[in-house]
Amino acid sequence: MNNVNAIILAAGKGTRMNSAKPKVLQTLSNKALLEYVLMQAQAICSQVYVVYGFGGEQVRQAFDDDSLNWVEQTKQLGTGHAVQQVMSHINNGSISLVLYGDVPLIQQPTLVNLITKVQKSGVALLSVMLDNPTGYGRIIRHDNKIQAIVEQKDANAEQLKICEVNTGIMAFDSGLLKTYLSYLESNNAQGELYLTDIIEMAANDGKTIASVVAKNEFEVAGVNDKVQLAKLERAFQQNQAHKFMQQGLTLKDPARFDCRGALSFGRDCEVDINVLIEGKVVLGNDTSIAPNCIIKNANIGSNVSILPNSIIENAIIGDGASIGPFARIRSETNISENAKIGNFVEVKKSTFGKGSKALHLSYVGDATIGKNVNIGAGVITCNYDGVNKHQTTIKDGAFVGSDTQLIAPVTIGKNATIGAGSTITKDVIDSQLSLSRAKQSVLKNWKKPTKK
Ligand code: UD1
Ligand code: CA
Repeated sequence: MNNVNAIILAAGKGTRMNSAKPKVLQTLSNKALLEYVLMQAQAICSQVYVVYGFGGEQVRQAFDDDSLNWVEQTKQLGTGHAVQQVMSHINNGSISLVLYGDVPLIQQPTLVNLITKVQKSGVALLSVMLDNPTGYGRIIRHDNKIQAIVEQKDANAEQLKICEVNTGIMAFDSGLLKTYLSYLESNNAQGELYLTDIIEMAANDGKTIASVVAKNEFEVAGVNDKVQLAKLERAFQQNQAHKFMQQGLTLKDPARFDCRGALSFGRDCEVDINVLIEGKVVLGNDTSIAPNCIIKNANIGSNVSILPNSIIENAIIGDGASIGPFARIRSETNISENAKIGNFVEVKKSTFGKGSKALHLSYVGDATIGKNVNIGAGVITCNYDGVNKHQTTIKDGAFVGSDTQLIAPVTIGKNATIGAGSTITKDVIDSQLSLSRAKQSVLKNWKKPTKK
């Protein structure tokens, strides 16, 4: 929206977090609290000002974005004082929207609603009804008209019973805000300049204070400690899970599903319990994820079965493939259609062709595997010589017998067969049986050791 400035208050230390990290850098669903607020502010405001203080450099570095305006508040003398630091940058005739860096889940429609109201009245605030209003500033109304905000520490017994509280999010005509900010005094219980005192001044001047009452408590919930952070994380996850289910995803238990990133899916996908999705994950149609899987930055096709306790990261899994149980698919891996990766198999930086299998206890790293290859139990690509990594190539139709070590760099020919227990150090030719095992023998004079 044109001529709307966001003023994000983020100077507080967040003492109750008991952390070396500034509060606004604590994360919700893998993203810093401040990032959520910035996203909303940048979507609707023409300029965004962030008031920083404690751990300022860390905060600025975390958001290396030229479009942001950083304003330092060297001493935290209250919310009114914080806003005062910004006003020399802001033109009269614009609108100032005050947001908190530690209220992450605020949504655009609510803010747009607030801005629309302030355009008429000059002052608008966002309140919320709470069963337990302890700690918050109370909204004082007469004949339903807002008269003042009284902070918890300054309130009398009657006022403390009020359940409508100040979320802290407010919008002002900037000229009006500047005038009232200059009148603020710190003669209150906390000796601070309260932004909230402006409400009473404006009401006393006969101004109507517009208000929006937030419908969802979590949208306006602030985060002061790790307990509140965890509660908000749950609410965020629950919300997201509901959205996914409404879009057609089957979640066996939405309370045991976490997505810290972006998930998209086709039709009839199913996710069982204790699954964690991170980064950008795409699922095709009819794909299922069994319990206890972690999937990060992966593109997974249709009709794929991810079996229990599997971990997939930075990989592509083709249609009809099967992964796990207990498989680990690492970065830069591409598993083609109908390939099968079984239990205790680790695959790194490798390509598996269509229909190829490694079903038991293998390590496949830096390898290119053709179509319809069978990798027996316990096969290892020895890709690392202690200094450098080397490639293994296995051509279409090859059969690698169990417990074989492939000493890379090495190439296994098309339709070749390698006998079990071989250590392969030289390229293997097409269509032949190769092995490198000593012949089985019996030692004639051998005696079982006796106990000394
Ligand atoms: C404030 C409101 C209260 C409201 C509550 C909602 C005032 C006086 N009170 O109280 O009515 O119910 O928020 O959570 O406004 N900050 C700065 N610089 C400062 C002081 C604060 O940047 O000098 C920032 C904090 O980092 C925080 C926000 O402003 O993001 C609110 O500050 P906080 O001290 O938590 O205010 P409350 O006392 O909770
Ligand atoms: Ca607070």
